Amino acid sequence: MRSFALSAAVVPLLSLSPALAASTSTKNLATRGNGYLRHPIRTVPGSPKLRRRQEVEATAPHNRGATYTIDIELGTPPQTVTVILDTGSNDLWVNPVCQTANIPEYCAQFAQFDWTVSSTFQDLEQAHIITYGKGNVTYQWVADAVTIGGGTIPQQVFGVGLESYDIPMGILGLSPSIQGPNAGDNYGFLLDSLVAERLIESRAFSLDLREIESSEGAVIFGGIDKGKFIGELERLPMLDPSETPVGADRYYIYLNGVGVTLPDGSALASEPFELPVFLDSGGTYSRLPTVIFLAIGEAVPGAQYDPDSNLFVVDCDIAKEAGSMDFAFNNKVISVPWKDFIWDADNNGLCIVGVAEMEQGGEPVFGDTFLRAAYVVYDQDNRELHIAQAANCGTNIVSIGSGTDAVPSGLTGDCEGSSAPTATVALDVTNTQAPTNVVTNGPKLTNAPGFGPGPAGKGITTTLGGLTRPTDAPGPNGQKNGAPAASAVGNGALVALGVLQLAAFVL
Ligand SMILES: *[C@@H]1O[C@H](CO)[C@@H](O)[C@H](O)[C@H]1NC(C)=O
Repeated sequence: MRSFALSAAVVPLLSLSPALAASTSTKNLATRGNGYLRHPIRTVPGSPKLRRRQEVEATAPHNRGATYTIDIELGTPPQTVTVILDTGSNDLWVNPVCQTANIPEYCAQFAQFDWTVSSTFQDLEQAHIITYGKGNVTYQWVADAVTIGGGTIPQQVFGVGLESYDIPMGILGLSPSIQGPNAGDNYGFLLDSLVAERLIESRAFSLDLREIESSEGAVIFGGIDKGKFIGELERLPMLDPSETPVGADRYYIYLNGVGVTLPDGSALASEPFELPVFLDSGGTYSRLPTVIFLAIGEAVPGAQYDPDSNLFVVDCDIAKEAGSMDFAFNNKVISVPWKDFIWDADNNGLCIVGVAEMEQGGEPVFGDTFLRAAYVVYDQDNRELHIAQAANCGTNIVSIGSGTDAVPSGLTGDCEGSSAPTATVALDVTNTQAPTNVVTNGPKLTNAPGFGPGPAGKGITTTLGGLTRPTDAPGPNGQKNGAPAASAVGNGALVALGVLQLAAFVL
């Protein structure tokens, strides 16, 4: 058995970084407030010319502006690297191998972290393999400075890609610390480190993805923006892993009903039910069990089931109408406007309804097609999610404290909104019915956006792999060709600093 200890450094080396150089408009600047860090989210648009039809059909391009990313800074001096913001996995890692990404040119447009020029870089000399719903990565564990939202973690553990498949950029995982059998894998994830560094008071953040065209989405670690939602936040317990379909510890809550509001204002809803679903910002679509997938597809006027893609397609004019898909969580209904739920697939007027069929034995997921319309506070310490209808009526950030009422009860958004219409119970989600309208000779979907990485499986730590320093690139202290990086912090500094939070990897 081999183990090494990793820590979140606990000496309060608070450092305030200058506003992110990569951001151009003032409203997009990372801002550090009293007890919170706000970091803008960027939707990454894909370039149509990069799309290769034959590959796109089979794989997962992030080519529809549907990938929510943030630009973090790594190393000393800081280098800006774009990563997918993913509530469906735990780890932060960068540097995918673009040659084996689904679209190498797409992957290559994102900067890679050049660890050889960082003076604070440490190679932790172990590698790790993660398999996602789509794609996989083997990365080397390293530690270095990470700056996010204007706050810096001097030595954060993360991965540097050695080998990866089907993944176009690095990933910042924000899923809950692992409970249960895999608990030993918690080495101090980014959110843990923000608390250990006293940049925020408890392990909580809010996520406001917003619609694809918006540049105002943000993640706020340790804070809530009351100017970004309507009404009271609904407090929902995170499900215990034992209550979830595969026993995974993710941001699972119960979905209690689905409905649709039609452009004429009439609304249909299902009988109440209880279905565990998890919120996955790294997932492009929502994926729901067959009966609900079919019910939602059928509820969109004119939608046709496309057997090739196993998705519902519809004339894009429908997406412009004033309908919504409605999802109930306890007493709260989140309405996703059709324009956010149904999106243009291939520039020929054909649109995709943003729900896919969950595979047998899979996990129900609410991805970006849902999260665009929801304001969600993820409170890991209290194992609660707080959810409200997203809106935008200014900026009014309150910080999240600690303890059971860290997210104050009854917190109400500043925005006004109309209340949901009273729905007729007429949506059947108990019987699987064949789709009434199936694409036969009509326009076929040629460019369905991919699903995003999907949930991460259990990682495996390995001694395989290892970073190789390019022969002509001097290291931080002038050493060359794979010499251990005896950085300014020094080997063993991690262990020395790890007074409070130590965890071991066990092989
Ligand atoms: C990763 O994916 C590639 C390509 O699909 C596959 O060949 C390889 O075996 C996978 N590796 C792991 C560890 O799952």
